[in-house]
Amino acid sequence: MLVNTREMLDKAREKGYAIGAFNMSNMEILQAIVQAAEIENAPVIVQASQAALKYAGVDYIEAMGKLAAQKVSVPVALHLDHGTDFNLIMLCIRHGFTSVMIDGSKYQFEENIAITKKVVEIAHAVDVSVEAELGKIGGTEDHITVSEKEALYTEPEEAVQFAKETGVDSLAISIGTAHGPYKGEPKLDFDRLAEIRSILDIPIVLHGASGVPDESIRKAVEKGVCKINIDTEIRQSFTKAVREILADNPAEYDPRKIVGAAKEAMVETVRGKMRLFGCSGRA
Ligand code: G3H
Ligand code: 13P
Ligand code: ZN
Repeated sequence: MLVNTREMLDKAREKGYAIGAFNMSNMEILQAIVQAAEIENAPVIVQASQAALKYAGVDYIEAMGKLAAQKVSVPVALHLDHGTDFNLIMLCIRHGFTSVMIDGSKYQFEENIAITKKVVEIAHAVDVSVEAELGKIGGTEDHITVSEKEALYTEPEEAVQFAKETGVDSLAISIGTAHGPYKGEPKLDFDRLAEIRSILDIPIVLHGASGVPDESIRKAVEKGVCKINIDTEIRQSFTKAVREILADNPAEYDPRKIVGAAKEAMVETVRGKMRLFGCSGRA
């Protein structure tokens, strides 16, 4: 069942859990994500970054995403992650993505509002939901690295003004997480999150959630996060499984046996996150 993210995020916000949004760039990762969702009976967001679209091709992602959604009984949203290229966002909408992210976080506040508003107007006309980003999340995405010093936390009052002026459906905020693996333990600004949650009336999104301790994730959900993005931990389970299979069976040359076992590992990773986020059994 292919849907946009509006209903699933609104329900999560109302009931106090978060929907998992998992990045994919090939068939096995996608199959693992939807298989986990089906087993957990969880609504799910399957997302592809601009780099993933470049790698696999937008038409492959479209065809695989639509098929995967058709094959399961849970709601599946096909979402563009960190869209920075206006034309590519439009292309994704034309290719049947049900949700897009316009990431204007590199721009000044007013310019971020303008570009987000433009995307919202077009996307909403065809019932596609839109996520935006305010503040700067640390780490690397799409080959652009934001150093810890540059990462700027989201200002609560600005978030409210941003949501009001753009009409965006959900907002990614910066409260101390970063993309990719962490060097130390991430420290999240829960007070800032709680303040944003108390005055902002749209769902809040947490990026860079791989490697964040379970306790912090639970607290973030309790304080109002409704969508949580996971990429790195899926990549790590894939790679760990492939390394182990090849080390244990150096003569193996059948890709299905190598990548097939990695898929099982990814299903377990995604299921674990769904239980942690509280979205299991919510489809
Ligand atoms: O937010 C970043 C995601 O992990 C996407 O990474 O641009 O390497 O596909 P990527
Ligand atoms: P991680 O790779 O740190 O899990 O971040 C994922 C993300 O935020 C995708 O937008
Ligand atoms: Zn992200």
